[in-house]
Amino acid sequence: MRRAGALAAGPAALALVLALAGCGMVPGSVTPVDEAEFTNELAIPPLAPSRVVDGTRVFELTAQEGTTEFRPGVQTETWGFNGSYLGPTLRAERGERVAVEFTNELGERTSVHWHGMHLPAAMDGGPHQEVEPGATWRPTWEIDQPAASLWYHPHPHGVTEEHVYRGLAGMFLLDDDASRAAALPQEYGVDDVPVIVQDKVFDDDGQLELEDNGSEPGTLGGTVLANGTVGAYHEVTTERVRLRLLNGSTARTYQLGFQDRDMELVASDGGLLDAPVTLEQVRLAPGERAEVVVEMEPGETTRLHSFEADLGGVVVPFAMGGNDAFDVLELRAADELTPSPEPAWEPSVHAAQDALHEDSAAVTRTFDLDDRQINGRRMDMGRIDEVVSEGDTEIWEVRSIVPMPHSFHVHDVQFRILSVDGDAPPPELAGPKDTVYLEPNRTYRLLMRFDDYTDPDVPYMFHCHMLLHEDEGMMGQFVVVGPGQEAGTPPDGHGGGHGGGHGDAHGGDADTHAAHH
Ligand code: C2O
Ligand code: CU
Repeated sequence: MRRAGALAAGPAALALVLALAGCGMVPGSVTPVDEAEFTNELAIPPLAPSRVVDGTRVFELTAQEGTTEFRPGVQTETWGFNGSYLGPTLRAERGERVAVEFTNELGERTSVHWHGMHLPAAMDGGPHQEVEPGATWRPTWEIDQPAASLWYHPHPHGVTEEHVYRGLAGMFLLDDDASRAAALPQEYGVDDVPVIVQDKVFDDDGQLELEDNGSEPGTLGGTVLANGTVGAYHEVTTERVRLRLLNGSTARTYQLGFQDRDMELVASDGGLLDAPVTLEQVRLAPGERAEVVVEMEPGETTRLHSFEADLGGVVVPFAMGGNDAFDVLELRAADELTPSPEPAWEPSVHAAQDALHEDSAAVTRTFDLDDRQINGRRMDMGRIDEVVSEGDTEIWEVRSIVPMPHSFHVHDVQFRILSVDGDAPPPELAGPKDTVYLEPNRTYRLLMRFDDYTDPDVPYMFHCHMLLHEDEGMMGQFVVVGPGQEAGTPPDGHGGGHGGGHGDAHGGDADTHAAHH
């Protein structure tokens, strides 16, 4: 894979797009998506096999290089987990202990992070748990959160964008009493279908290209994939189909829906909503998920579409993908459909324990995001930015103070959005979330609680999930401490100063990082 172009990001890019706008060159889109023919069957990531050893469900994942035939006869170099592109779907039940034996067979360090998972910081797979080439890392933890569509992807310092873009990502589904008993489509790959949406740029040789062309949000690709399939269709055999949508792109925000029907939103990032919400479209920024249920008539065809995304008050939205509209996935209903129930479910037995209470919030923190910085600072592996006390409920007030899109993600917890500029969030943002699109200059008040897993030395991350932004420093670190504990020193904090620009993206510290834990 090569990187194309060499324009600076940030203010220079902004100046560029403003100049384009100023000289009257306002195209419909500068980042159009090719129209696909929907003739390829949607790939379904296989369910990962596991074995139970002494009560622990053990999975194996290997990051490896390979080639993938996205287009007939064209071999594209890609990376994947246990295969050439993407990875298997891991699946576990609330209350289970899991372990993952992760082996890095790439030629460079990487990591694997469990996005949305509540777990000890040392198991989180962030930049402090990088794995050297040839090494194996074996995190273990207990699943202690509601049923949800989580995912996993690399998180190595400064090169996350590239590792995800090359193909390293997969789903991690959690089940619980409520999800098992729910009247929802649940047959994996049949009527309960993961849909990992990504966009790519292919060069003339059919190889993946990450464009550093000054496109401020990062690379916006002209080819859209669903589970790695270009122009995918899925045969629907039931009256309703549940799509577990994941925006697995590095930069592009999608606004997904159907042009000819509504859908029922049943879950957001962290699990089931209180009740289904009827929606025409759902906006998903990088890292966000939504589970939707779509109803079909026998014999008909429809397409999951990405509408022109409403990015909020961003400057020159046409340069941020805001004017792009395209189809993502075709659904083809069989002539006879098996009946499906109306979506409905009861609360989990854990609902009271999981509930967050605004009146218990003890601490409020503010996070202002501007050009690659959070609260005026760039990521420093050796610096703890926030110290959280175990057991505390907190309110994080998050705001993008520049007219640019950002996608704010917090590790360790699921949060509730209390308000957006003082107003109650729309119903699609009212469920459990770990990532939220920030419309510029709006204040998002997020409620979260840090129940356990104290570790004064190993931090969790909070960051922008637009991965170029993250790599360039739009990330910070927090530790959770117990009574009387103070923040310690991150184990491989090496003084920071990285992630400061495109030039660093390949720099890495491969020699100085140890695969540990
Ligand atoms: Cu999905 Cu910190 O990442
Ligand atoms: Cu960002």
